[in-house]
Amino acid sequence: MAIQLPRLLPLLLFLPFFHLAARRNTASTSPSRQRGAPPGLHPVVLLPDTTCSQLEARLTDAYVPPSPQCAVHRKDDDGQWFRLWKNTTELDNPAVAPCVADQLRLVFDHVSGDYRNVPGVETRVLQFGSTRGFLADEPANRQRLRALVEHASRMNGDKPVVLVSHSEGGYFALEFLNRSPLPWRRRHIKHFVMASTGAGGFVRFMEVVASCVSDVSPLARVRRSVPSKFTPLPSPKVFDRDTLLVVTRDKNYSAHDMPAFLTAAGLPTFEVTLYETRELPMAMNFRAPVVPTTCINGLGVPTAEKLVYWDGNFGEAPEIVYGDGDGLVNSASILALDTVIGDDPMQEYYKSIKIAGVYHADIISDGVALERLISEILQENFVQDSKKVDRRVAQL
Ligand SMILES: *[C@@H]1O[C@H](CO)[C@@H](O)[C@H](O)[C@H]1NC(C)=O
Ligand SMILES: *[C@@H]1O[C@H](CO)[C@@H](O)[C@H](O)[C@H]1NC(C)=O
Repeated sequence: MAIQLPRLLPLLLFLPFFHLAARRNTASTSPSRQRGAPPGLHPVVLLPDTTCSQLEARLTDAYVPPSPQCAVHRKDDDGQWFRLWKNTTELDNPAVAPCVADQLRLVFDHVSGDYRNVPGVETRVLQFGSTRGFLADEPANRQRLRALVEHASRMNGDKPVVLVSHSEGGYFALEFLNRSPLPWRRRHIKHFVMASTGAGGFVRFMEVVASCVSDVSPLARVRRSVPSKFTPLPSPKVFDRDTLLVVTRDKNYSAHDMPAFLTAAGLPTFEVTLYETRELPMAMNFRAPVVPTTCINGLGVPTAEKLVYWDGNFGEAPEIVYGDGDGLVNSASILALDTVIGDDPMQEYYKSIKIAGVYHADIISDGVALERLISEILQENFVQDSKKVDRRVAQL
């Protein structure tokens, strides 16, 4: 290994990722020379969980404040960009939090059939392409992500990129890959490393959605407005009809009964339709990216497997039945990666690493897990005689 691990850790976490490879390549200047250079480090592009994005906003005359109090807030900014997300000072201030939430929320535009900002709020992502800014998960950013990958590759002697995602970032990465033409993927992606994402969501998210309905806090309102609000719901692709995820006295719900559950939890019909027409097809479309892929997940941590709302009151905290998983994502969802991605005949290289006792978020912070993750990022060769053998070896 050319760079020692302890030096690499802070680089990976805190510096713009181009530096990983750009530093190595400072000696060779022309792209053609770099192309002929011995294999070195590859650029790394990180796709974090959704909450990492930093957004700036500015208001135009079209913005209608929700209250006279909010009309005063940001009045003096006069069309200047300001930090909308994440500004903890403002979100913790009950006087302005509703105003911030109003500017953060999205509205569904029935004409274009897609989400957009509230009229009069313009936003931009801060420091796109660096670990200081991180990505916002919006469809519009797919083009920017593609340009970023191409740029990272070009800056590093045309070496293909290692794409690394965590948690919800994995859904975005997979959608991005599967919507990119196969020749493009093969040319630009050396390796996709997906950490802490299951093939079919997780049960606990049903509680998150249900509790959001009765939550009147400004942030809950924002959360309800974003398109990714349903993404991690347990998917019928992984959870079968006989697996009851929510139990009540009068009715039980499997992943196949999600529209009925969302309705019973109090979501308006229009939102349930959005689940059926947008989220469900995407969840069913979770599939092999057909580039070398390594999945890293924790297992062996007690994980909510069934929610009991005996009286059918979804506003209350449920009684929880625990099973196996990474503390958030169920083992069924994690193990399904081996069939959904691993057994796809188009998928040539696939490896699954399951680390016992490591929690969902700790996959990218626990020392041992992080070392394993980084050794996968640095991996050079993807030769696989038998997926089954490789998979068994990889399990810890
Ligand atoms: C957060 O908002 C406060 C009050 O509007 C402002 O003074 C502060 O500079 C903001 N913080 C950031 C990081 O922009
Ligand atoms: C739901 O499942 C529970 C536990 O398995 C069972 O006791 C109950 O009778 C079921 N309810 C209905 C309406 O089928």
